Amino acid sequence: MSQDRQLDNAELLSVLDWYRAAGVDLAVGEEPVDRFAQKPPVATNVPPRALPAQQEARAVPPPAQGPIGGDPAEARSLAASAQTLDDLKGLLESYNGCGLKFRATQLVFADGNPEAKIMLIGEAPGAEEDRIGKPFVGRSGHLLDKMLAAIGLSRESVYIVNTVPWRPPGNRAPTPEEMELCLPFLNRQVELVAPKLVLTLGGPAMQTVFQTTNGIIKMRGKWQDVTIGSHEVAALPTLHPAYLLRNPAAKQQAWRDLLSFRAKMLELGLG
Ligand code: URA
Repeated sequence: MSQDRQLDNAELLSVLDWYRAAGVDLAVGEEPVDRFAQKPPVATNVPPRALPAQQEARAVPPPAQGPIGGDPAEARSLAASAQTLDDLKGLLESYNGCGLKFRATQLVFADGNPEAKIMLIGEAPGAEEDRIGKPFVGRSGHLLDKMLAAIGLSRESVYIVNTVPWRPPGNRAPTPEEMELCLPFLNRQVELVAPKLVLTLGGPAMQTVFQTTNGIIKMRGKWQDVTIGSHEVAALPTLHPAYLLRNPAAKQQAWRDLLSFRAKMLELGLG
């Protein structure tokens, strides 16, 4: 194939799609450009002053899609206004404060049973979750299903959410700003479900729920009473299924955590 050949529209779209899936969300060149030193672009052929006002407005490139930065106070007051999970889902669907939304295909709100007494909190949707609209439906979700089954649980007996409900581009970790904007919605989701037990999956979910900068290896397997929003609940951090897929030897530790979780379930009559 000649390198000079112009790509047709279908080829251009598939290249763009590939970039998007790889997490490329900014177009930058090889060399830095000082935009402040540049003159504003002038429409070619037509003197700028000859343009009618409306057309002149159209000549300015549209702003990048999505907000520059949302307001955490607005997120908190919006989330607090939700009286039901359906309200909360609707609010998130129309919320434009968090830039993640503009790179994701759709909202990934929750899966499982909203009446469940057990809640699982993961990190962020991946590519499969973004495509299907439910948390933990990809490879790590399949392992999670097996982990749940091993202690007598299923998707019908738990409620599953993530710390952020939109897929970060290219599966990068959500930024602290994105987490801060999404946290009020997670807090409200926990308040509305009011679980008796919480299992966090992986480091970022543990750090959000336990409000710590400690790592998951130090924290896993240790129960703690935490307050999420205004809801007090016993929570256990364990390893993320995606980590277990990459490090099968760590399944031993995750299994110990699951047994501890099972023991607590039985203690509370949730078995
Ligand atoms: N990993 C997560 O933390 N959440 C998902 O929903 C999928 C993968």
